Amino acid sequence: MAMWCPRVFLLPSTIVVFLFFVSQILVQSTHASAEGFTRPPPGNIIFSEHERSKSEPQQVHISLAGSDHMRVTWVTEDHKAQSTVEYDTAPGQYTTRIRGEHTSYTYFSYSSGKIHHVKIGPLEPATTYYYRCGASGPEFSFKTPPSTFPIEFAVVGDLGQTDWTKSTLEHVESKDYDVFLLPGDLSYADSQQPLWDSFGRLVEPIASRRPWMVTEGNHEIEIHPVVFPQGFKAYNTRWLMPYEESGSESNLYYSFDVAGGSIHIIMLGSYTEFDSDSAQYKWLQQDLAKIDRKMTPWVFVLLHAPWYNTNMAHQGEGESMRKAMEELLYGARVDIVFAGHVHAYERFTRIYDNEADSCGPVYVTIGDGGNREGLAMSYKEPASPLSMFREASFGHGRLRVLNHTHMHWSWHRNDDANSVVADEVWLESLSASGTCMGQPTSSLKDEL
Ligand SMILES: [Fe+2]
Repeated sequence: MAMWCPRVFLLPSTIVVFLFFVSQILVQSTHASAEGFTRPPPGNIIFSEHERSKSEPQQVHISLAGSDHMRVTWVTEDHKAQSTVEYDTAPGQYTTRIRGEHTSYTYFSYSSGKIHHVKIGPLEPATTYYYRCGASGPEFSFKTPPSTFPIEFAVVGDLGQTDWTKSTLEHVESKDYDVFLLPGDLSYADSQQPLWDSFGRLVEPIASRRPWMVTEGNHEIEIHPVVFPQGFKAYNTRWLMPYEESGSESNLYYSFDVAGGSIHIIMLGSYTEFDSDSAQYKWLQQDLAKIDRKMTPWVFVLLHAPWYNTNMAHQGEGESMRKAMEELLYGARVDIVFAGHVHAYERFTRIYDNEADSCGPVYVTIGDGGNREGLAMSYKEPASPLSMFREASFGHGRLRVLNHTHMHWSWHRNDDANSVVADEVWLESLSASGTCMGQPTSSLKDEL
């Protein structure tokens, strides 16, 4: 397989000057080592080039698309390249061939390559498949998630494409997992479309092996008042998620099941309408109403702008969405809510409406994947009793669901070996709580 060759990407001079100014401020503060290690400064953007021919696939990534299907996505510079995937369970022998769809987009003077989306299956669970895209180029392989417990998720937010991103991804890859979850801010292309291609090449070795399930962050918006008023053009075209499969009308919010339907994961959109008369709100109501907690003991939610946050960065940005949707998640007894946006790690206790509530979700901010903007170092003081752990370091999370009742969450900062866990907690499914499942929502808070 061709190797990607990172180099420092040359940005417009005004942006370089701005980034240099910001980095100088942050370098001074990020060299503090209160816990005995040195926090890294913001990282340079690395630009990943490729050595493949124009007809060969690049930026290959996969995503779950229904209970036993996988969507394979890639880009070719050659617009005549086939949108086909050949695959089977033995390397080099492709007995199944499926044709999919393709698209492309323009963004001012930029024209994308041919973007291929091919949905393959039905696939067996916990099985390794070998595949080739467009009958050309290298062979890839992926493993499907298991249909039963245990199952493990890697959770990474605000990823970007810097040296810290590479460090985070190396840590993720050092220990096996089943599904990659990303609560927004992928490439930090910020309208510089070649950086979307670079990001696709950077993550391909990982994103072609395990499904990447993402939702959008503010860096995916790329809105232009006249030319691109809706925004999300690159994101929606390149990172097609199973929204149609989950009854959503928008790629900006959707849901999917894993572990044979025992876990339901909802990806919400912080940057599309969420008020009670919005399409997203109505879809969420319907999606939550379909869940049978006897069949689906776990429900997770991912979104970008955190609803609870004691970092000084991005204070209050998730508040209007919290006010609009928190009651829905609480009523459905969602187990855990992951957010990004704030470039640090923070774990809260179970909360509903700003108070500890044993029937509310645990809230986790995991926006520390490695973006170019650096870490969010300042916290509100004194610490809120709702905040159980907070630290500004790059890292990633692991969510291992052992069975119908128990799962283990851990956060791994990049400074440590993966065996070293900076924060961890065992969590019990709310579906196993007679108190939380057996009484009407309105009476619960009165008793607590
Ligand atoms: Fe963000």
